[in-house]
Amino acid sequence: MLSKKALSINPSPTMAIDSKAKEMKSRGIDVIGFGAGEPDFDTPLHIREAAIRAINEGHTRYTPAAGTLELKEAITDKLKAENGLEYNPAEVVVSNGAKHALSNVFTALLNPGDEVMIPVPYWVTYPELVSLNDGIPVPVETSESNHFKATPADMEKAYTDKCKALVLNSPSNPTGQVCSKEELKDIADFCCERGIYIIADEIYEKLLYGSNSHTSIAGFSERAKELTIVVNGVSKSFAMTGWRIGYTASAPDLARVMASIQSHTASNPNSVAQKAALAALRGPQDCVEEMRAAFDERRRYMFDQVQSLPHLSALEPQGTFYLFVSVAKAIGKTYRGQKLFGSDDFATLLLDSEKVAVVPGTGFGAPDYIRLSFATSMDNIIEGLKRIGTFAGEID
Ligand SMILES: Cc1ncc(COP(=O)(O)O)c(C=O)c1O
Repeated sequence: MLSKKALSINPSPTMAIDSKAKEMKSRGIDVIGFGAGEPDFDTPLHIREAAIRAINEGHTRYTPAAGTLELKEAITDKLKAENGLEYNPAEVVVSNGAKHALSNVFTALLNPGDEVMIPVPYWVTYPELVSLNDGIPVPVETSESNHFKATPADMEKAYTDKCKALVLNSPSNPTGQVCSKEELKDIADFCCERGIYIIADEIYEKLLYGSNSHTSIAGFSERAKELTIVVNGVSKSFAMTGWRIGYTASAPDLARVMASIQSHTASNPNSVAQKAALAALRGPQDCVEEMRAAFDERRRYMFDQVQSLPHLSALEPQGTFYLFVSVAKAIGKTYRGQKLFGSDDFATLLLDSEKVAVVPGTGFGAPDYIRLSFATSMDNIIEGLKRIGTFAGEID
């Protein structure tokens, strides 16, 4: 019999639809995938070259478990220059991607029964990681009318004296919404008054559109900084998902504990990938803007098109590469004689009949929604939306 805790973990639904789509593709079926959680661009050339150099120069051995000093210094310089945050390298832990960084955070923070507030809709991994670390994920219900952003009033309803931390993800996967400075200040005040840690997942900070800008919640006050664990990485900004480099910046005692945990569970993140991340952070940044601009063009096209389709509506994404689409008006209706009970049915029937893969919102705690990624070519977007239009047109 396997561990009860392990058996209670749900497989990632974003990965499930993705593997079905990939399996169909491998059988030669022309599937359009809107499931991707990663940029479709190659890692920029100067970063790849830095990695090749690193191999040839022999950077192939263990590094300090929490990352090399040169990379940690590049991270603290980035946090200062871009986020206005002062950290020293000892407060940074470099991990195998932001996901691993989050895993370290929950292992370091949680005692059995500690509660973690997670605004809904949420990235699928947060509640699972909390559970794996003996914590209790507590959903914070938000409203579409407030663009799914948690307010202090929303948090108050979920808060109990067992609450240890809040997960904050702005820009948000899956909603694509971004908290304003004022909204973040309210959240910081709420957490500081109650002494709740803020796990600020800022992995999409560079993918912002229109007049949106990024504010790090740790910057509001010394108290906010003490309570915040900044989680970030190079995966999404630099098209480096496969390299697996993420990091945290936090209070020094917490950083020490996380470094120690990591030294026993994983040792250092890949030495060559650390050199590549160094090149990403220290090198030219125009590649980031080029990718952002391409996402922006696709975002506008996709949003306009979806708005014109029957039964579907969406909030305009302010950041990330996701469009979060309400299928609520289709639920309860039928498609070719089959009743749509929720977004799972919607996604399954869409994949089976029109060969378009989308992610149902169930795993995000939002069963009336689907998530479409625009991290795919404009040609795919045009064709995929045409097919979704055909599908939606047959729902009645
Ligand atoms: C909100 C959010 N945080 C963290 C991650 C994980 O990033 P990484 O690939 O660096 O582990 C993802 C990836 O999908 C994400 O969407």
